[in-house]
Amino acid sequence: MTTTNRQQQQQHSLGQLLPLVLALTMAVAMAQQPNLEQLRQLGLGNVINLPLYTDLPRSSYDFIVVGAGAAGCTVAARLSENPSWNVYLIEAGGVENIMHQVPVLAPSLQLTASNWNYQSQPQRHACHGMPGNRCALPRGKVLGGTSSINFMIYNRGNRRDFDAWAERGNYGWSYNEVLPYFLRSESAQLQGLKHSPYHNHSGPLNVEDVRHRTQLVHAYVRAAQQAGHSRTDYNGESQLGVSYVQANTLKGRRQSAFRAYIEPVRNLRRKNLHILTMARVTKVLIDDTTNSAYGIELIHAGVRHQVRARKEVILSAGAFNSPQLLMLSGIGPEDNLKAIGLPVIQALPVGKLLYDHMCHFGPTFVTNTTNQSIFTSKFTAPMMKDFLLGRADTQLSSIGGVESLTFIKVPTAQTPPQQPDIEIIQVAGSLASDEGTALTRGANFKPEIYEKMYRKLARHQKDHFTFLIMQFKPQSVGRLWLHNRSPLEWPRIDPKYLTAEQDVEELLDGIKEAIRITQMPALKAIGTTLLDRPVPGCEEFSFGSDDYWRCSIRTMSYTLHHQVATCRMGPATDPSAVVSPQLKVHGVRKLRVVDTSIIPLPPTAHTNAAAFMIGEKAADLIRADWS
Ligand SMILES: Cc1cc2nc3c(=O)[nH]c(=O)nc-3n(C[C@H](O)[C@H](O)[C@H](O)COP(=O)(O)OP(=O)(O)OC[C@H]3O[C@@H](n4cnc5c(N)ncnc54)[C@H](O)[C@@H]3O)c2cc1C
Ligand SMILES: *[C@@H]1O[C@H](CO)[C@@H](O)[C@H](O)[C@H]1NC(C)=O
Ligand SMILES: *[C@@H]1O[C@H](CO)[C@@H](O)[C@H](O)[C@H]1NC(C)=O
Ligand SMILES: *[C@@H]1O[C@H](CO)[C@@H](O)[C@H](O)[C@H]1NC(C)=O
Repeated sequence: MTTTNRQQQQQHSLGQLLPLVLALTMAVAMAQQPNLEQLRQLGLGNVINLPLYTDLPRSSYDFIVVGAGAAGCTVAARLSENPSWNVYLIEAGGVENIMHQVPVLAPSLQLTASNWNYQSQPQRHACHGMPGNRCALPRGKVLGGTSSINFMIYNRGNRRDFDAWAERGNYGWSYNEVLPYFLRSESAQLQGLKHSPYHNHSGPLNVEDVRHRTQLVHAYVRAAQQAGHSRTDYNGESQLGVSYVQANTLKGRRQSAFRAYIEPVRNLRRKNLHILTMARVTKVLIDDTTNSAYGIELIHAGVRHQVRARKEVILSAGAFNSPQLLMLSGIGPEDNLKAIGLPVIQALPVGKLLYDHMCHFGPTFVTNTTNQSIFTSKFTAPMMKDFLLGRADTQLSSIGGVESLTFIKVPTAQTPPQQPDIEIIQVAGSLASDEGTALTRGANFKPEIYEKMYRKLARHQKDHFTFLIMQFKPQSVGRLWLHNRSPLEWPRIDPKYLTAEQDVEELLDGIKEAIRITQMPALKAIGTTLLDRPVPGCEEFSFGSDDYWRCSIRTMSYTLHHQVATCRMGPATDPSAVVSPQLKVHGVRKLRVVDTSIIPLPPTAHTNAAAFMIGEKAADLIRADWS
């Protein structure tokens, strides 16, 4: 490559892209002199005409919703459909910009202010590829919450997951009872599924096929079938099998909770929904004679405000911050609250349980195709312009490279026949895709992992794909606690990843099945070979042996951020429960938790779709109480 060529390439690379994007955005807007509606259609409304979500608090509202994530946006939008109720939605982060809308840039969002940027406590049995054995635990801090920075995979879960919730005394949460709420939120445009009873076409949240598909995914899907996995809709009758991924995008752009639920109603000037961004809620105000929540305290622009809730306070601050806020308000385990000098208003096992989905990042396979894998250095200004003007079929619409999901059963697991144990996520790239930048730093991988395993692929821009192997039902259980009373400090998060050997063995089975699939004719035909550069720290094991993979599992530990159960839902008789099946905090009046922290057991799914379902169902539960 000549020097000029290289310089040009660098000019167009990701790092340089953002000013360019903004300049382009302005240029497009001015050239067309469009009205606001056109700008909104282009998705540029927030860049050009910043709709300021800065409604300073009035003294009281009917409902206060803390946290504008997937569940919070949903419940706030639905409650404010009743014009006689006013709703205050409070968010710690700011507003999305054009970068959030470009699906392929998902990993980069973890390096921005839209991420809370938490890390785990040092892990003994996992995260060995990270400095200090600390896994990164990103969470969205923006209007839209984690749905604004996630990978946009739309996946609901297995019938048996929800039936198990109901069997634990969570009446109203069986699969047949929650399916209508998944459907109420969904607007699907999926090839071949127009008449499926499992999909709705008129809800707020768009679900579509990823229009950009590589030769790699086509070969993989065929190979998976050759290996005996049938084609399926993993949100339909049976999850088991292989599917192209279903994405929360609309015409190739991210559909966050903000885009799906908030922006449309703000544009309709819904006057009874007030929204304040860049505001940190620090505690729930609770009258300790009646154990009744009557408002919240927040800090905005350095000023402390108290806001009253006439009807209810709803915590939707996510699986880390909802438990934190409960504890800061005196609701939590007695020992933890006493240790940090907080008076106990209600003793409950907040944060005592934490489940997550740990994955193995890899293995990676090299192919003899050309120009298929994602390399962000190949993105050009014309591609970006096409994207802005509405093209949905370029690599920019790839959801961080994720192309297909395969739900499988493995021999070492002991779950019922219809319930998958492992998911194989096929991605058209690796840490090489962005030259060891966003993905590597986002996951807190040591730089040597990129240097030793992936740098060469990046240098030669060699086509390849990677599997993430994810376990659904880990036996390892973590917890979360507060180490002091400051509302601005991180909660301590110890997921205790891979403490149970069984979890490692299931992941190992998953790796073996993924490798078997790559030996099928459809993938052989594109010269698929295992990348055999050993994981730093695992060189002592014979490459590809079971012990090598066990070491790799504990090193290339990569969570998909499906933390649940920190405010577990269960009946009053359940000593592990924090909220009731109506999502009311046990022993406290006028206070609910509405987000993924209430999910009682690790699901057979990614957790974003469930957050929307929980928001929809909570709105019905609340309406039933107050109408
Ligand atoms: C990097 C990443 C990728 C993921 N990819 C996928 C995927 O592809 N598919 C999938 O299904 N799931 C995915 N997930 C998980 C999924 O996105 C989340 O489980 C889900 O969006 C959580 O929704 P929630 O409503 O429970 O919480 P969140 O969406 O996290 O919302 C909580 C909100 O509360 C706000 N908040 C917190 N504390 C305060 C406070 N004190 N004051 C004011 N506001 C506060 C936060 O800023 C945030 O906006 C991913 C997660 C991550 C981190
Ligand atoms: C589809 O979504 C709309 C809007 O939320 C809802 O009114 C309708 O009942 C849903 N249809 C089905 C079949 O669930
Ligand atoms: C490589 O792919 C990009 C994006 O899909 C396309 O614009 C370009 O023309 C391709 N180049 C070659 C050599 O095929
Ligand atoms: C890729 O590899 C396969 C299997 O070795 C071979 O049949 C095919 O011709 C190769 N294709 C290219 C473009 O090299």
